[in-house]
Amino acid sequence: MATAGKVIKCKAAIAWGPKQPLTIEDIEVAPPKAHEVRVKIVATGICRSDDHVLSGAISDMKFPAILGHEGAGIVESVGEGVKNIKPGDKVIPLFVPQCGECRSCTNSRSNLCDKHDIGPYIGLLLDKTSRITCNGKPVYNFLSTSTFTEYTVLDEICVAKIDDNAPLDKVCLIGCGFSTGYGSAVKTAKVEPGSSCAVFGLGGVGLSVLIGCKVAGAAKIIGVDTNPDKFAKAKELGATECINPNDYKEPIHEVLAKMSDGGLDYTFECIGNTKVMVKKCGYALYLCALLKRSTLTPLYGTTIYSKNSTT
Ligand SMILES: NC(=O)c1ccc[n+]([C@@H]2O[C@H](COP(=O)([O-])OP(=O)(O)OC[C@H]3O[C@@H](n4cnc5c(N)ncnc54)[C@H](O)[C@@H]3O)[C@@H](O)[C@H]2O)c1
Ligand SMILES: [Zn+2]
Ligand SMILES: [Zn+2]
Repeated sequence: MATAGKVIKCKAAIAWGPKQPLTIEDIEVAPPKAHEVRVKIVATGICRSDDHVLSGAISDMKFPAILGHEGAGIVESVGEGVKNIKPGDKVIPLFVPQCGECRSCTNSRSNLCDKHDIGPYIGLLLDKTSRITCNGKPVYNFLSTSTFTEYTVLDEICVAKIDDNAPLDKVCLIGCGFSTGYGSAVKTAKVEPGSSCAVFGLGGVGLSVLIGCKVAGAAKIIGVDTNPDKFAKAKELGATECINPNDYKEPIHEVLAKMSDGGLDYTFECIGNTKVMVKKCGYALYLCALLKRSTLTPLYGTTIYSKNSTT
């Protein structure tokens, strides 16, 4: 492409710090170095984890930064040594890299590549530098990706090539919310046909859990949210019923126990609220949340309670 090898001037939403608004700024995006790719971002979702940075719940970020990690785009140029991706390819940025070589990548029971930047946040490419500047000053990335920008540079291992016909405005959700939620139900919890499930929080992650529970053949899928505007979409995607905790006097886990003949087979926390997480609503509780590390150890779509566990 005509821009290959040159600095690209474009726009990005810059985060200046917690509790400060994003502002649209002119930025400069340097060409990719070895084993990096420069991507024109076509679509991006907004995940609650981006908001956790802005609210201060994720508190060890460096600023200024470009947030966003749920995007899709087209490769503009590649650095030296990039073999499997070429300009023009449609791609999804990966906030969990896949180096293919580390102890996690080579272990079928884990995929949290050692080269991830899911805290402590370094906010730089693997060579510990940034390709993006704003007013001449380096800008940090978020979760190895940064998608709230017209162009971004990623390490080669943080990019997945996708089908040329994929609609980027839809598949961007696979970059975070969909894979987190669907994977929690189908891969981590391994929801069984005929089982009963509750999903707390009906945002991007929770709705994706619902889809996973439905595909797995769950018979009862209860959506739980304090915002009833979420219920119509949840029912469209697979919830058999939806409830608002604010409509009940008793604690919601007691309500759910009554609705499920004593307890649910699977419950999923998709809010990011640790108080909800420690209420045990069934036999098993699966986390789909990026936790504030000062409160609990983060678990990414990982079981914290199982049928054999008491804690
Ligand atoms: N891989 C990961 O670890 C990963 C990936 C994506 C998102 N997350 C985390 O998962 C959580 C959900 O993300 P999202 O993008 O779907 O968020 P979201 O804001 O789109 O959805 C959250 C939903 O929870 C509801 N809610 C809030 N408080 C509630 C309460 N007390 N009881 C019931 N419902 C309540 C809200 O009304 C909303 O519908 C966030 O904490 C996010 O950081 C983690
Ligand atoms: Zn996310
Ligand atoms: Zn790896």
